[in-house]
Amino acid sequence: MQTKISLVTGGAGFIGSHVVDHLIKMKHKVIVLDDLSGGFRENVNFKSIFVKGSVVDENILDKIFQQHKVSYIYHLAAYAAEGLSHFIRRFNYENNLIGSINLINRAIKFKVKHFVFTSSIAVYGRNQLPMLETLAPKPEDPYGIAKYAIELDLRTVAEMFGLNHTIFRSHNVYGERQNHGDPYRNVLGIFVNNIMSGKPMTVFGDGRQTRAFTHIDDVAPYIAKSVDINGARNETFNIGADKPYTILHLARTIAKAMQREPQIEFLPARNEVAHAYSSHEKARGYLASIRQLGWMKVLIEWWIGRLKLVPENPESLVRLKLWKRCRQAGQKYCNNETPQISWRKIYDSNCNSRLFGVWKDS
Ligand SMILES: NC(=O)c1ccc[n+]([C@@H]2O[C@H](COP(=O)([O-])OP(=O)(O)OC[C@H]3O[C@@H](n4cnc5c(N)ncnc54)[C@H](O)[C@@H]3O)[C@@H](O)[C@H]2O)c1
Repeated sequence: MQTKISLVTGGAGFIGSHVVDHLIKMKHKVIVLDDLSGGFRENVNFKSIFVKGSVVDENILDKIFQQHKVSYIYHLAAYAAEGLSHFIRRFNYENNLIGSINLINRAIKFKVKHFVFTSSIAVYGRNQLPMLETLAPKPEDPYGIAKYAIELDLRTVAEMFGLNHTIFRSHNVYGERQNHGDPYRNVLGIFVNNIMSGKPMTVFGDGRQTRAFTHIDDVAPYIAKSVDINGARNETFNIGADKPYTILHLARTIAKAMQREPQIEFLPARNEVAHAYSSHEKARGYLASIRQLGWMKVLIEWWIGRLKLVPENPESLVRLKLWKRCRQAGQKYCNNETPQISWRKIYDSNCNSRLFGVWKDS
């Protein structure tokens, strides 16, 4: 039997590294392409081939496709920070949109069989609830706009060049290997860090916004196996947990899991979609389980346990200090961004290539 060769972009990241693990179990030969801007080398399955580089770099892409007969692309590489994307517009479109188009061009040229893309429910914008795949998308931020543009391009490419695709619109995923040090995304990580630093959890607006928090195991396996499912060919699926909870509820759940009194600082409301949760009826045909509250609580406790980041732990205090310094650097650049100052510089110069990871004192 011929070996299935898969390229996973963003395979050092949270969702991507789990997809890689599933593909390895499915006996694929896996090439991981990741620039480590938000992911970690240690997340990468040792049975895969790791290439450090960016999807924006066309030379690296050409080399990969010339060296390996790639059949499947799983494209997860992105800087996924919805709210922040308004302030890093150029970086967002270059990294997330142009990088994706580079990859789609290679998929056509090198006759890839199937292109799997992780979009987001950000494409729906303020829309009818629960969000259904049949609704007309109305993305409201550059992150969602880029995701939707890629979706549209993939549909055109399927008609024009016969490249098969599957699109997953996931949402609010959490679990092991999530980057919990980035102050601009992953609300769970932000709350954990707030508590660890002895501060109240920062909530925008009244905290009654709702999101459906989704465990990684309800997402990654289905992304991995989608290329083998005929019914998933050239289809778009919402994927994740059904039931929405308020941000306040999440804050209390995390405080309880960390055995702290929930202390909340309310900040002025952001311009964001208040309620974002979707229906998964379309995907349910091959989704084994969709977890509800009990699971959420248990999994949050488990996840926090895995972080090994308790305030009393001296190592975690050092990391927290470093993280704060990176955050300050990030805010400085973010507030003054011009097209010449790329977001990437923040961590290239300050954070030793890991986004808000280990501080490089130089
Ligand atoms: N986590 C969620 O809740 C969620 C929800 C909806 C959609 N998504 C999408 O799923 C995908 C994975 O998200 P995640 O949560 O695992 O994020 P993540 O940051 O953990 O993973 C993204 C990975 O992509 C890498 N990367 C970024 N830009 C790159 C580039 N130009 N070239 C190569 N590698 C690059 C990063 O280093 C990182 O390892 C993203 O496309 C994201 O938009 C995630």
